[in-house]
Amino acid sequence: MISRGKIHRPEHLEGFVVEDAGDWIGLLTFLIAGDECEVTSLDSLREGQGIGSHLIGKTIEEARARKCRRLFLITTNDNLNALGFYQKRGFEIVAVHRGAVNESRKQKPSIPLLGYHDIPLRDEIELEILLNV
Ligand SMILES: CC(C)(COP(=O)(O)OP(=O)(O)OC[C@H]1O[C@@H](n2cnc3c(N)ncnc32)[C@H](O)[C@@H]1OP(=O)(O)O)[C@@H](O)C(=O)NCCC(=O)NCCS
Repeated sequence: MISRGKIHRPEHLEGFVVEDAGDWIGLLTFLIAGDECEVTSLDSLREGQGIGSHLIGKTIEEARARKCRRLFLITTNDNLNALGFYQKRGFEIVAVHRGAVNESRKQKPSIPLLGYHDIPLRDEIELEILLNV
């Protein structure tokens, strides 16, 4: 996956998994660099059961324990569900990187032109929580 022009390979990152009888039903990966923790992916396979909230809560704890100043993530302009989900959990929008997905598409042509709700997929939206460590 690509965020802020950087390629991340989730299998090489740290993360948390939620399991049910050995099946993975939730996965969050993150990357700590300096005093910043980036959530590089978050996927829940059983939505609306608290899995996403639990994974975010664990990551806030981990980032605090590792003395991070902020936890941030990138989502895309079409992902209205994620924008609501994160803001309800204390994240604030701190930047809109206009056209960043269009740039990423040059490196990864499989990124579709239309995203959720058939919204043109163009921009990266950066959200953060300050951890006040
Ligand atoms: C965004 C995403 C990770 C949320 O995961 P999730 O497991 O559905 O998250 P939760 O269950 O914790 O919360 C979702 C909603 O279910 C509700 N919920 C939580 N526990 C619940 C329960 N036990 N029963 C019913 N509803 C519940 C929450 O209140 C929340 O609603 P709200 O946002 O209106 O407050 C998930 O939708 C997803 O994987 N999306 C596709 C991938 C994606 O977009 N990832 C983010 C890209 S940056």
